[in-house]
Amino acid sequence: MNSRTPEAKEENVGANDFREALTDVRVQETCFHDRHITPQIYAGLTSAADWSIKAYEARDGYQALRRILTEGLTPEQVIAEVKASGLRGRGGAGFPTGLKWSFMPRQFPGQKYLVCNSDEGEPGTFKDRDILRYNPHIVIEGMAIAAYAMGISVGYNYIHGEIWDAYARFEEALDEARAAGYLGESIMGSAFSFQLHAFHGYGAYICGEETALLESLEGKKGQPRFKPPFPASFGLYGKPTTINNTETFAAVPWIIRNGGPKFLEVGKPNNGGTKIFSVSGDVERPGNYEIPLGTPFAKLLELAGGMRGGHKLKMVIPGGSSMPVLPAEIMMATDMDYDSIAKAGSMLGSGAVIVMNETRCAVKSLLRLSYFYYEESCGQCTPCREGTGWLWRIVDRIEHGKGTHDDLKRLGEIAENIQGRTICALGDAAAMPVKAFLKHYWSEFEHHVEHKHCMVPSYV
Ligand SMILES: Cc1cc2nc3c(=O)[nH]c(=O)nc-3n(C[C@H](O)[C@H](O)[C@H](O)COP(=O)(O)O)c2cc1C
Ligand code: SF4
Repeated sequence: MNSRTPEAKEENVGANDFREALTDVRVQETCFHDRHITPQIYAGLTSAADWSIKAYEARDGYQALRRILTEGLTPEQVIAEVKASGLRGRGGAGFPTGLKWSFMPRQFPGQKYLVCNSDEGEPGTFKDRDILRYNPHIVIEGMAIAAYAMGISVGYNYIHGEIWDAYARFEEALDEARAAGYLGESIMGSAFSFQLHAFHGYGAYICGEETALLESLEGKKGQPRFKPPFPASFGLYGKPTTINNTETFAAVPWIIRNGGPKFLEVGKPNNGGTKIFSVSGDVERPGNYEIPLGTPFAKLLELAGGMRGGHKLKMVIPGGSSMPVLPAEIMMATDMDYDSIAKAGSMLGSGAVIVMNETRCAVKSLLRLSYFYYEESCGQCTPCREGTGWLWRIVDRIEHGKGTHDDLKRLGEIAENIQGRTICALGDAAAMPVKAFLKHYWSEFEHHVEHKHCMVPSYV
């Protein structure tokens, strides 16, 4: 989306690298394997046919909503349960969900909206599309419960524009839920009404940023808004709006059925429940794995079949492409939860775990990431629009043996000047990987500059 540069030749080199990275992606496994530990979202799912409402009801589906409406749980009680669960947003920032719900001005007299963020454009992340494909009703039930708790009568699920089957599946599930009386007017004979719609998005990474998503949902160009005001007071069409990630909503029915404290117990303090990790890269079995927060990384790697072809683990991006990379020795001593990963120097983000072996070059890896952020910048603010291009071109020079020591210095300075100085967090997302790769793999960058080639064996 950003303005093009005159360096067409250099640009093609980066674009080809990126395409090469895409074709290198191995087919991921779906949720139909037995390698989930105490699953909550994948519980009982055994085949592709399980997505239907009948199969979902057989797995206690819609019992949480029924309990709320028939036992007369108050909205305050529902929010208290979600707060007690320690559920943190699964979209990236890990914000406490119960707290977010309590920000909604429930007594606001006009229209309020609930939005599900199924945009899922972060490289490495592929969990939300599988939830929509194989367990769409769990999202519908979670959204209906959230709508009840916040006094909302209209909701939308914004689904990534390049993923057609998940969108079609969700539409089918909505039809089923409406026909069964779980959506619409006076649900289960109560005073609660909720209309839920699917919206097929535009396929741009930036449309996953919550305010860009709202703009896009309103039919405008998907560009982030200045904040404040935040969506809780000025959201969709300027009305109070709550936005949560697909997996966040999918966690809610289990919490209401089993109680918030039980959910918290499954994970660890401040990190309640299970989390779906999308494991990709140099592992034997890439795929989605649902495990309790706090599970050691070493266990997750084992579930994913270990390192492919007997290679050695070199580095891991533990939370999606925008998060800082961590070397093997740090990851092998770290647990997979928000606080442990933060203590180790990165972030859990969306839970996309990108595993790289000892043949991967740190410079080339960063080049791929930098090209992505350059390509996806919406262009609204100068540090991001210009800075992402500078970062990419400098890393490209270094990778191709044309970099200088000055370039190395400049890389860090530019990243520092982008971070925290932009309208949305895409600027940070472009800067953080640069800083982390330089911090942990400085010698590789230096080697590229001094010897004009890579020090990693397979590239020599
Ligand atoms: C550039 C950018 C892209 C994002 N993409 C997504 C996305 O695809 N899905 C998502 O749930 N959140 C995404 N987020 C985070 C959302 O802005 C928001 O924090 C999230 O949807 C809130 O839901 P949660 O509290 O349940 O995590 C993105 C943020 C940024 C800055
Ligand atoms: S940080 Fe980048 S993506 Fe976000 S608003 Fe600014 S230019 Fe757009």
